[in-house]
Amino acid sequence: MKLSLKVNGRTLEAHIEPRTLLADFLRDHLRLTGTHIGCDTAQCGACTVHLDGLAVKACNLLALQGEGCEVTTIEGITPRDGLHPMQAAFRDHHGLQCGYCTPGMIMSALDLVAREPAPSRERSREALEGNLCRCTGYQNIVTAVEAGARALAAKA
Ligand code: FES
Ligand code: FES
Repeated sequence: MKLSLKVNGRTLEAHIEPRTLLADFLRDHLRLTGTHIGCDTAQCGACTVHLDGLAVKACNLLALQGEGCEVTTIEGITPRDGLHPMQAAFRDHHGLQCGYCTPGMIMSALDLVAREPAPSRERSREALEGNLCRCTGYQNIVTAVEAGARALAAKA
């Protein structure tokens, strides 16, 4: 079936099987492999992207559900040179170890700070409930989200 959507600012059309998941479309068709797949059952959040500005789990949506929508992946928020302030905050505050969960964590964190520019630690924890990390521990991740929020507010 034909799919038309915008991904990271680029309008594109593709012919896909109706059962294609959004996560597989991004990774396999577009080679946007920053969107990770950890569980395929909507539990880990590694596949989190933005669909029309809201964080969604791309393993839990059909690509066709993105018809006419705007999808943003971790590649879409990463500047050509350097890092997005939220990425830099994760690096600076040791909010990652293996990094597998990190793209999803960052996309969820950005969804949060878009709605709440200065979230409390509790709100950050709540917002990241759907994102699992198996190695770093959440203390540094929450600290990174706070720092990223501050950096973004300072830039605004
Ligand atoms: Fe989508 Fe785990 S791969 S939530
Ligand atoms: Fe390894 Fe989170 S940094 S799973």
